[in-house]
Amino acid sequence: MIKLGVIGTNWITQQFVEAIQTLQEYELTTVYSRKIETAEEFATRNGAKNTVTDLEQFFNSDDFDTVYIASPNSLHFEQAKLAVENGKNVIIEKPAFSNQRQMAQFQEILAAHPEVKFFEAARNIHTANFHAIEKQVNEMDTISGAEFTYSKYSSRYDKVLAGEEPNVFSLKYAGGALQDLGVYTVYDAVTLFGLPDEVAYFPKLVNTGVDGKGTAVLKYVEFVVTLNFSKMSNSEMTSEIAGLKDFIEIDDAGEITEVSYHNDESKRTVIGNKNLDNPMLEEAADFAKVILAPDDVDNQKLYRYWNQLSINVNKVLYNLRQDANIVFVNE
Ligand SMILES: NC(=O)c1ccc[n+]([C@@H]2O[C@H](COP(=O)([O-])OP(=O)(O)OC[C@H]3O[C@@H](n4cnc5c(N)ncnc54)[C@H](OP(=O)(O)O)[C@@H]3O)[C@@H](O)[C@H]2O)c1
Repeated sequence: MIKLGVIGTNWITQQFVEAIQTLQEYELTTVYSRKIETAEEFATRNGAKNTVTDLEQFFNSDDFDTVYIASPNSLHFEQAKLAVENGKNVIIEKPAFSNQRQMAQFQEILAAHPEVKFFEAARNIHTANFHAIEKQVNEMDTISGAEFTYSKYSSRYDKVLAGEEPNVFSLKYAGGALQDLGVYTVYDAVTLFGLPDEVAYFPKLVNTGVDGKGTAVLKYVEFVVTLNFSKMSNSEMTSEIAGLKDFIEIDDAGEITEVSYHNDESKRTVIGNKNLDNPMLEEAADFAKVILAPDDVDNQKLYRYWNQLSINVNKVLYNLRQDANIVFVNE
């Protein structure tokens, strides 16, 4: 049984907790919040026994062995570091870290604590629908390019328009569209095609200094992948992976609910449409498998693969941001 502590009490933590509560492998034991009232309210709602407002006390606790971190991006590194140093497995929301220096330092800390596991919660690549895409890509003779789109107007952009600076649109908290919805599209590309040779990023900056939306271009040896993501506009544009005459159609690069394959004769076949009530269930189940059987050879292989993916995605995100001269506070 995995005993879970959580950091962050927003809706995403609620969704993760609802996912783990449908699985037998987890038990929520401990809730950290900056305010005791918030911690208690979250704990009562979800049946957790312990509440803490002091981060050091939280990580010193024996009440849990794994922490789920869903704080603003710029806090991830220090919190994850503390977790590993205190022997806790870490499930950390995307993007795990804000730059390559943090990722490299974190990998060193992780290497010094081999009993501890680290997972970046990139929910899209753990879904059955994404696995259907992977399988189809492997079966296609040629890949000639791809476009991934994930655009959703954020209610917090209303606040930006009103002159405020919510964390997700803040340079101080390592926000912006690339660091948020963009991460899923980078994960799509890097998981399917590996590290690109060159990257370029064309953002639309908003008043707070971060990118509200943007187009990223990833150049591979044989083809180019274009990523479109936005938190300041909506889109229903599908995503596609092109072969020669054939292609894969994906309804949404971040929330994949239907995947179909159009063959050389233009025949469309749905190859993935598994939709669970909770989009975080599949990743939570994947992480539990590895945490509970760390010596299993297949699990070790998967774990190394996810860790390397996280390193590669971090590198692409960083290089894209460098290309657009977006600099976070205190970098
Ligand atoms: N996987 C997904 O689908 C998904 C969806 C949304 C977000 N995310 C990720 O989840 C993480 C959190 O995103 P969010 O939008 O929920 O962030 P957020 O609302 O800005 O903050 C999340 C939590 O962190 C704490 N917090 C807020 N401001 C803080 C501050 N200034 N200093 C310290 N703690 C602070 C709050 O908890 P307390 O008040 O209890 O301390 C809050 O509930 C991000 O990494 C984001 O990318 C993932």
